[in-house]
Amino acid sequence: MREQILVTGGAGFIGTHLCAALLERGAHVTVVDNLSAGRLPALAELQQCDRFRLVEHDITVPLDWEAPLTAVMHLASPIGPAYVRDHPVSTLMAGSAGTVNALEIARRHRARIVLVSSAEVYGDPAVQPQPETYTGNTDPVGPMSGYQEAKRFLEAMATAYRREHGVNTGIVRPFNVYGPGMLPSDRRVVAAFVVKALAGQELVVNGPDAVRSLCYIDDFVAGLIAMMESDAPGPVNLGAGEGTEIGDLAALVVSTVGSGTVRTGASAETGGASRCPDITLARETLGWKPTTSLVHGIRATLDGMRTVIEAQATVRFDVPSAWTTLLPPAPELQCRAVSVGAALRWLTATHPVLAPRLLSPQGQLVPWTNVYLGQDNVRDLKGLDTVLTGEVTLTALPAMAGG
Ligand SMILES: NC(=O)c1ccc[n+]([C@@H]2O[C@H](COP(=O)([O-])OP(=O)(O)OC[C@H]3O[C@@H](n4cnc5c(N)ncnc54)[C@H](O)[C@@H]3O)[C@@H](O)[C@H]2O)c1
Repeated sequence: MREQILVTGGAGFIGTHLCAALLERGAHVTVVDNLSAGRLPALAELQQCDRFRLVEHDITVPLDWEAPLTAVMHLASPIGPAYVRDHPVSTLMAGSAGTVNALEIARRHRARIVLVSSAEVYGDPAVQPQPETYTGNTDPVGPMSGYQEAKRFLEAMATAYRREHGVNTGIVRPFNVYGPGMLPSDRRVVAAFVVKALAGQELVVNGPDAVRSLCYIDDFVAGLIAMMESDAPGPVNLGAGEGTEIGDLAALVVSTVGSGTVRTGASAETGGASRCPDITLARETLGWKPTTSLVHGIRATLDGMRTVIEAQATVRFDVPSAWTTLLPPAPELQCRAVSVGAALRWLTATHPVLAPRLLSPQGQLVPWTNVYLGQDNVRDLKGLDTVLTGEVTLTALPAMAGG
């Protein structure tokens, strides 16, 4: 029988690469994703395969899954420091209720389940590098607690299901994963540096000695699949065993892109926690180690990012007539943008008078519900990161006209 694999969060950056690798080996793959992080072009490619299925569902809600299953890969979670700091509730819900629901599916089907945690469980580590036995240095009420405690709960609940219900669980702790498929709107360090360098801007490095473990996506996916094939309970660190100093990363990105400059900021404290994994356990239990050089990985990421940026759409804005009285005569409501968020950011920057209608009181862009893409394509507009290509029209709902 062919493998039947369910991937929660499979529509995201890591998930789409994982699904492509699983389809490549002949598996039937079902993604369960609420598309909150947007819709990546890679998802459309996966949907070309008749062994692939997308179920739009929020994993914090229980899912009755009757079809046979051999494995569950649980990736669904909000991510990104800025996002999870602003949305700690949905982050904790994905890590808690979402994890329980994923574990329940695996329990009912007696399936192997791999749960994707994070190096954030180590917090601001007091030891370098971090072995899995290091219990971390986190603050349950600190700024990153929504994400850190979500992942710590995920690990605790996975362990509880293994001990009490005999579920075949496996926990992995990724460090920074990067590669093609990251969106220009991604604020994480590699994507942010590449975007700045492409725009010929300054890459400001706060704390140039801070170390990140940068693992190329293909290596990471190979580690996930090795974990799926094993019975190891983990947690297992999956990351580059050799750390990269942020200052060196910035210099490499600038030289690879051929534009941009590096400026060293004053405050080392704002550079973020230095983290680097001890990957002995992954080597010994999974026979895994990363093999892609940083130079190759950055080049591939740059190529992927260029493709997305070059394909950016011409976006026209169709705003309610009540708004046009606020604008200069015949305003040019048109721009080139890679994503819904980028287009709306352009609109608020160039026509500040519309900002109160497009920004929440906290200064965040309005959620997707207030804008239509085309006539009836609302589902495709989920998430400000949704990539736009070709020529599109964003239409604000008439209901928002007075807002
Ligand atoms: N990328 C990294 O460097 C990294 C590092 C450490 C841990 N991780 C973990 O790896 C996993 C995947 O990360 P990614 O980089 O692909 O992020 P991503 O944002 O690209 O993908 C996450 C996916 O989960 C979905 N999702 C979020 N909440 C959901 C919910 N309640 N129900 C259903 N779907 C939901 C999103 O729509 C998205 O498609 C996450 O669990 C993340 O915490 C990633």
